[in-house]
Amino acid sequence: MSSPLSATQARKPDGTATARETLTITDNRTGKSYEIPITHGTIRASDLRQVKVDPKEFGLMSYDPAFNNTASCISRVTYIDGDVGILRYRGYPIEDLAEKSTYLETAYLLLNGELPTSAQLKDWTYHVTHHTFIHESIKKFLDGFHYDAHPMGMMISTIAALSTFYHDAKDIFSPESRKKQTYRLIGKMPTIAAFAYRHTLGMPYVYPDNDLSYPGNFLNMLFRTSEAKYRPNPTLERALDILFILHADHEQNCSANTIRSVGSSHVDPYSATAAAIAALYGPLHGGANEEVLRMLMEIGSVQNVPAFIKRVKAGETKLMGFGHRVYKNYDPRARIIKHIAYQVFDLMGKNPLLEIALECERIALEDEYFIKRKLYPNVDFYTGLIYQSMGFPMTMFPVLFAIPRTSGWIAQWEEMLVDPEQKIARPRQIYLGHDTRHYVPMEERG
Ligand code: ACO
Repeated sequence: MSSPLSATQARKPDGTATARETLTITDNRTGKSYEIPITHGTIRASDLRQVKVDPKEFGLMSYDPAFNNTASCISRVTYIDGDVGILRYRGYPIEDLAEKSTYLETAYLLLNGELPTSAQLKDWTYHVTHHTFIHESIKKFLDGFHYDAHPMGMMISTIAALSTFYHDAKDIFSPESRKKQTYRLIGKMPTIAAFAYRHTLGMPYVYPDNDLSYPGNFLNMLFRTSEAKYRPNPTLERALDILFILHADHEQNCSANTIRSVGSSHVDPYSATAAAIAALYGPLHGGANEEVLRMLMEIGSVQNVPAFIKRVKAGETKLMGFGHRVYKNYDPRARIIKHIAYQVFDLMGKNPLLEIALECERIALEDEYFIKRKLYPNVDFYTGLIYQSMGFPMTMFPVLFAIPRTSGWIAQWEEMLVDPEQKIARPRQIYLGHDTRHYVPMEERG
């Protein structure tokens, strides 16, 4: 008979006890030792609170700016092993999904945890497709933007404005309401994005065509001019669908963390999604694809690449589209994207910036500076080149990221909402500012 295990002991596959799954901490200020449980390779930061010199003290905290080594949630949505370059949605490798799935099917998977049956996929597609139209007042709202407004700014504001149209969205603990807002968000993102694009061109808005696929309809709303019926090019339609699959989720990145954090105050999903889009807009996150293209244009020619890399190594600038907080290997999405790039170039003609990008990658992958820091191309390094060849202006690049990421955001938001351990996000701080000071009247300040 095996001996009983304490709560902090784990079993090996053969049933025998392993070493105790605990951490012993000795506080050298007091000489006291504390035994803290380790679960899933993690200690709970709140267990540190018992470590104190004086019982009246708050207790020990952990300091982790930018969450470099802090798990903020338990998640079952997306898995990344950054050291070997693995990305899986709900257990399915990204390579499999990119090859065999569609964006809508992948979005269903992210949101529901399982691949849909054919009836479920039909129902899901029907509902998303029948929520693509936007209220005419939203159209007027978009009209109010200046002609050169950045479409990401327009997206942030317009998605936030949706909350003023759908009051039922406040009912966040109703699964039915959440489902409805999900249809609306995933359905309307491409419409708002396309309208924002047409607005900057001063072109009339094109209404959704429910006969087309999700990416096909998006291309229709963007590019249709005088055709009675828009027929998307199948290569571009599929390329866009794969790009959408690759961008659908990426576990606890900056914008996912934002939607969880903002959503933890129990605000409606439109306001929380608007916050996530704002996080994505930054050049260190979803805005990087736009920055990559600007950088390649600034480099200008293959001959100038070594001088540019020298500037990067001197810390004067960054090689945009390189490096990642989690991937310390080639981003698996970047590999797939490089492949799609060639398919799009075969159709649309080679992007002249491609040679510069390839040369940057070649030099960087052989250079000690990048090798030592494990800096590899990330998802954004090649996407800009593809988007440009497909006819998108640079300002639309982050928008093309935001559309598919909506499914990941909503999956993360729902997981947070139904997790009984989650509360309003509220980090601690180490206060190093002034102690009490008394107000000095103006005349005494010198
Ligand atoms: N070019 C040059 N050096 C870099 C780069 C880069 N792109 N990225 C990181 N480094 C260097 C840093 O200067 C640092 O060097 P040091 O140790 O000598 O100080 C080292 O590599 C580690 O970098 P950190 O900034 O600590 O890495 P962190 O995980 O905080 O940042 C980030 C990750 C923000 C993605 C960073 O690599 C970066 O700014 N890359 C360029 C922007 C980009 O492509 N963003 C898109 C990311 S993917 C996405 O969000 C979709």
